[in-house]
Amino acid sequence: MQGRFITLEGIEGVGKSTNLEFVAGLIRAAGHKLLVTREPGGTPLAEQLRQIVLHREDEAVPALAELLIMFSGRSLHLANRIRPALDQGSWVVCDRFTDATFAYQGGGRGQPVDRIETLEAWVHDGLQPDLTILLDADPEIGLARAGARGPSDRFEKERVDFFRRVRAAYLARAERFADRFVVVDAARTLPEVQDELRICIKRML
Ligand code: TMP
Repeated sequence: MQGRFITLEGIEGVGKSTNLEFVAGLIRAAGHKLLVTREPGGTPLAEQLRQIVLHREDEAVPALAELLIMFSGRSLHLANRIRPALDQGSWVVCDRFTDATFAYQGGGRGQPVDRIETLEAWVHDGLQPDLTILLDADPEIGLARAGARGPSDRFEKERVDFFRRVRAAYLARAERFADRFVVVDAARTLPEVQDELRICIKRML
């Protein structure tokens, strides 16, 4: 039996990490085997690509190179971790996935959507998340929360209008792929957000 594949998305500071743990807890409590993973990253080599794309400042990373690094890591992650886990019947919860590429490299950096779709088709080979939870909030709120966390990576240094474009691209995808997306208003209190997440995961269980 195939496991289910859930992805969590949103701009910085919307509470992704806290809510990822919450969602994982609900799935484990229901008795399912679970892999919790993240992108960029998720395998030893893909984690090295994450370090390069988020933290190396010694060379410019053009938007196309950034896009290709994201999909290189994803290709390793899918082949070496995500697909094997799903094939063994494990559920997978992933902190960001390809919708982040459409949002950040597409909306944020202006890479053409058809280029991203071509890479998606090659790398996914038909696989899509069963559920994508988009934690949505105004970038002003998110960036204020994220800024309090300490040193910034290459994305966190971007300005608010970059995150406005990222958010708009996420919302456009949620509308286009409404069958797998759930948009959660992350500007509310944590208990309110988690009530909604509980309903959404229970429905899937
Ligand atoms: P995170 O640890 O906050 O998820 O940081 C990862 C950063 O990488 C975040 O700013 C979004 C960015 N990112 C992309 O630009 N494209 C992608 O495809 C993914 C998965 C993440």
